Amino acid sequence: MAATVELAHLRSARCAVRPPFEAGAVEGENLVDMIKEDLIAERVAIETYRDLVRYFADKDPTTRTLLERILAQEEEHANDMHDLLVSHEGRPMLD
Ligand SMILES: [Fe+2]
Repeated sequence: MAATVELAHLRSARCAVRPPFEAGAVEGENLVDMIKEDLIAERVAIETYRDLVRYFADKDPTTRTLLERILAQEEEHANDMHDLLVSHEGRPMLD
């Protein structure tokens, strides 16, 4: 029961920090702007998950492990956006 509640909370937290691009709410006027906005959103999500991992730390290792997996996915998304920027503009914008 407790695990189910924790998973429900995690699912809610994941929806709350889902980047706008994933939610279909990108406002960029062109592809490069959209990629830049998504990269910013991915980095916000990464920082949020890092905070959550630190919060759960030793309090709830199972939840921390789940959050670390999500964090790894978000880091992959940010890397993908970075690579897209480099391929479209020849350089990253946010480093
Ligand atoms: Fe993402």
